Amino acid sequence: MTYDFDSLVERRGSGCVKWDLCPPDVIPMWVADMDFPTAPCIVEALRKRVEHGVFGYTVVPDSYYDAVISWFSRRRGWTIQRDWILYTTAVVPALSVCIKAFTEPGDKVVFITPAYNCFFSSVRNAGCVASESPVIYSRDGGVLTVSIDWEDLERRCADPSARVLLLCNPHNPVGRIWTPEELVRLGELARRYGLVVLSDEIHCELEMPGQRFTPFAAVSPENLACSVTMNSPSKSFNTASLQIANIICSRADWRERIDRVINIYEVCDVGPFGIVGLQAAYNEGEEWLSQLNAYIWENYCLLRSMFAAELPSCPVTSLQATYLAWVDVSALGRGSQEIVDSLIACEHVRPGPGILYGDDRFLRINLACPRSLCEEGLKRIVAGLKRFL
Ligand SMILES: Cc1ncc(COP(=O)(O)O)c(C=O)c1O
Repeated sequence: MTYDFDSLVERRGSGCVKWDLCPPDVIPMWVADMDFPTAPCIVEALRKRVEHGVFGYTVVPDSYYDAVISWFSRRRGWTIQRDWILYTTAVVPALSVCIKAFTEPGDKVVFITPAYNCFFSSVRNAGCVASESPVIYSRDGGVLTVSIDWEDLERRCADPSARVLLLCNPHNPVGRIWTPEELVRLGELARRYGLVVLSDEIHCELEMPGQRFTPFAAVSPENLACSVTMNSPSKSFNTASLQIANIICSRADWRERIDRVINIYEVCDVGPFGIVGLQAAYNEGEEWLSQLNAYIWENYCLLRSMFAAELPSCPVTSLQATYLAWVDVSALGRGSQEIVDSLIACEHVRPGPGILYGDDRFLRINLACPRSLCEEGLKRIVAGLKRFL
């Protein structure tokens, strides 16, 4: 079966953050969700559940755990035991819960920047201090590749007030999949200085062709023992509003701490749609996902060729995963928010400003939309950026 990613679905008026928070003529390429309907197997499973018609309190069935375990075993060769899995409402609550569980106010949380904006807010909300380790960019023609500044990262991990190393794998917004070698090294670093690794792997299924994601905890028993993984099918299957995520941790004593915070913050109850949607995604969604990834890759290739042809002074970060392109617009000599404001006002297109992710030199462009819309949005962005040259 070939799935349709080309058709435009009207999202305006559906209570949609991405579209309904933009003026009516603006193409939104900012918040990280997709304009594609989710996989038909998920829609079908939800339809059946809706038709049942009773939506009282819900228990998470064995088949839910089986779906999670089978998915990671089939796709990553990672054996997860059932009692390692704690479910919760979404990945950001999972992240905040885990930071709370392993820190005291004033402690430092180390992470690689730029970073997903909620990393900054979750750390702040826990009363902790962000210790930001900026990546290193290398430019080759119109393409940027990203690497970890190991010296800087080690200095930050060695700080006696550092408690947690918060990873994003694959990384939003730079689109890197950390290699098994890098994951081994990150694990060694964390253990050397007694840090708990919290690994946010929500983007892990959005692998671009030829790329392979490895979970941090699957690399070695040592990495498993010093880490907590947070995951959800929500990013890859575009089901963020179904509100379901998993925290996976092999250590019973750590799970107890996490479970306590989950209960303190009352994020322990999930709904039937999240449960049903996750099982449909993990049991039947593989083929849809692989076609989705191929489609996103073509959108990214379009962006690359447009920037190479029209804006060679703005290099594009190489994309290994996710549908978020990270583009260096520092040559324009303006702040990223000013650029975005001008793109909204003059070109009617809205990418994300890099400042939101901790780097004012960049724009983040969401490519997860039908090709025709993507092409039009990119044309508008290119035209708007060229005005600043
Ligand atoms: C790295 C990362 N973690 C978490 C989230 C949000 O997860 P959730 O909607 O499950 O809270 C996002 C959304 O873009 C993300 O990029």
